[in-house]
Amino acid sequence: MTEYILNDKKVFEVFFRTEQVLQSGQFSAMSKFETEEIKFWIKSFNRYLTKKDKIIEMGCGSGRVLKALRSAGFSAIGLDNNKYLVNYCKNRGFDAFYSDAAKRVPTKQIGKFKAVGIAFNTLFNFPKNIRRKWVNNAYDLLAPGGILVFSAYRNSRFSSALIKERVKFYSTVIRPPKNFSIDFFDNHSIGGIRMVNPKGKTEWFSEWNNKNDLINEFHSWKKFKIIGMEKMKCGIAFNVLLQKC
Ligand SMILES: C[S@@+](CC[C@H](N)C(=O)[O-])C[C@H]1O[C@@H](n2cnc3c(N)ncnc32)[C@H](O)[C@@H]1O
Repeated sequence: MTEYILNDKKVFEVFFRTEQVLQSGQFSAMSKFETEEIKFWIKSFNRYLTKKDKIIEMGCGSGRVLKALRSAGFSAIGLDNNKYLVNYCKNRGFDAFYSDAAKRVPTKQIGKFKAVGIAFNTLFNFPKNIRRKWVNNAYDLLAPGGILVFSAYRNSRFSSALIKERVKFYSTVIRPPKNFSIDFFDNHSIGGIRMVNPKGKTEWFSEWNNKNDLINEFHSWKKFKIIGMEKMKCGIAFNVLLQKC
C-alpha cells in the first residue's frame, strides 16, 4: 500500500483550498453538509445558550465554523493541534490556541464553556479510544448542563455517487502526488489524511453502521444524555446534541 501522510504545513494549505472549494458550490453534497451542520449548531445554541455564553470548538481548523458563529452573534474560541491553522485563525481575528485534544486540554487555564462543538465529522474520524479522549476533554471543558454538538457521517449510507464526489473533493483540495488516489481518510482526521493507491485496501474511519450503534456509543460515554439527534437532509450524517448530566 502506498501512503501519503500530510504534514502540518500541507494540512494548512488543504484548509485554504477547502474553504474556497466549498464556497464555489461545485461539490453539492459537501456544501449541503456544511450548511446543514452550521444550521443545526445555530439552532441548538439559540435554544440552549444566550449570546453571552462561551463556546469552544475542538479541532477548529481554519476557523470556518468560528466565522459562521461570529456572524450569528455568538462568541466562540477554537483549539487545534496544528500550529499553522491556529496562527491562521488568529490572523483572521479569531481566538484560537494550540492544544492536542487527544491528550489533556488545559481546562484549568481556560475555564468552562456552555457549549463544545466538534465539526465536520472530526470526532468520528478517530478510532474509539481517541474519540473517548476527546469526549472526556469535552466533558471537562463543559460547565454543568453544558452541551456538546457534533456531526457523524453514516458511512454505510454513502452512495457510490457521493463517494465519487468525496474522492474528487479531497483530490482537489489535497492535490495528491501523481499515481495516488484518495480512497479513505484515516484515524487522524484531516490532520493526517492517508491516501492509498488504487490497489490499496479501502478502509472506513467510522465504526458504526446504524443509528443504534451510534446511540450505544453515546450511552457508553455516560455523564451525557442525548437531547437531539437529527438525520441530515443530505442523507450522509447525523447532527447530534448531548448534554452534560
Ligand atoms: C475535519 S477537520 C475540521 C476543521 C474545522 N472544524 C471545520 O469544520 O472546518 C479536523 C480538525 O481537527 C484538527 N485535529 C486533528 N487532530 C487533533 C488533535 N489531536 N487535537 C486538536 N485538533 C486536532 C485538525 O488539525 C483539523 O483542523
